[in-house]
Amino acid sequence: MTTPTITLNDGRDIPALGLGTYKLTGDEGISSMTAAVASGYRMLDTALNYGNEREVGEAVRAAAGLEQPVSREELFVTTKLPGRHHGFDEAVASLEESLGNLGLDYVDLYLIHWPLPKVDRYVDAWRGFIELRERGLARSIGVSNFTPQHLTRLIEETGVTPAVNQVELHPRFSQEPLRDFHRERGIVTQSWSPLGSRHADFASEPAIVQISEALGVTPTQVVLRWHVQLGAIPLPKSGDAERQRENLDVFGFELDDEQVAAISALESGRLWDGDPDTHEEF
Ligand SMILES: NC(=O)c1ccc[n+]([C@@H]2O[C@H](COP(=O)([O-])OP(=O)(O)OC[C@H]3O[C@@H](n4cnc5c(N)ncnc54)[C@H](OP(=O)(O)O)[C@@H]3O)[C@@H](O)[C@H]2O)c1
Repeated sequence: MTTPTITLNDGRDIPALGLGTYKLTGDEGISSMTAAVASGYRMLDTALNYGNEREVGEAVRAAAGLEQPVSREELFVTTKLPGRHHGFDEAVASLEESLGNLGLDYVDLYLIHWPLPKVDRYVDAWRGFIELRERGLARSIGVSNFTPQHLTRLIEETGVTPAVNQVELHPRFSQEPLRDFHRERGIVTQSWSPLGSRHADFASEPAIVQISEALGVTPTQVVLRWHVQLGAIPLPKSGDAERQRENLDVFGFELDDEQVAAISALESGRLWDGDPDTHEEF
């Protein structure tokens, strides 16, 4: 199974679904990420703050030794700049630190993890990102948890539009206005906690169960297909090889407009208080 791709505003291709790796650590983490690549995943999403960049790098190297080898070039690795490293020089040094942890020469995508508007250094960090892209250490650059105001400021002050904005997105929080803004500016949306993490149980949500029964797929597959049809790239995390395969197998069926709307109607708000205007993590 190969994942379809989407073309970013910088001309590079990104897989239409990736593996979330938060909490995949140690030897177990390495083997579950390697299993994911063996079953067809091509994108691994990490962050300096997840404390598992070393494991992600090990999985990338293990993938090259699989029975059906997958090379570094075939994989798409994303990492993120933590709040404590906002600023031009700090951003450059932080990616160098991440690459050291990963044991890689470049990442495919580098994201500002949170905007931290009260700290007000994300524009400087973004200038550092532009430099990192020019130096080839990050092939594509983007942001995470940015609002239209934060995005507008980056674009107006630097002239460079992020390729991606990775945000909270799931059936309880479908981010319609932000997705419309992204579409107008050519920014690709990625969905974090696409399955609601541990805060929501979409698998027993009647509207989703009903659709899953009608289509002969699992409720989780219905939710991931909904993301794909919204044009968002879901990053489901699973440490279990069977659930990883289930989560990737969402490109062979379609939801109709009514089914998409029924899932979007589950809107009730954020899972926790991850409001980008106020949430701070360093
Ligand atoms: N940019 C940001 O600020 C930000 C914030 C949060 C997350 N993220 C990224 O987004 C990724 C995903 O978000 P998340 O980890 O919060 O949550 P998630 O992917 O929505 O949900 C993960 C949970 O769902 C379970 N699960 C996965 N597939 C399943 C299936 N088919 N059936 C039943 N249960 C299933 C997993 O358990 P098992 O592992 O046991 O399968 C795990 O408990 C993260 O790993 C991270 O890479 C980014």
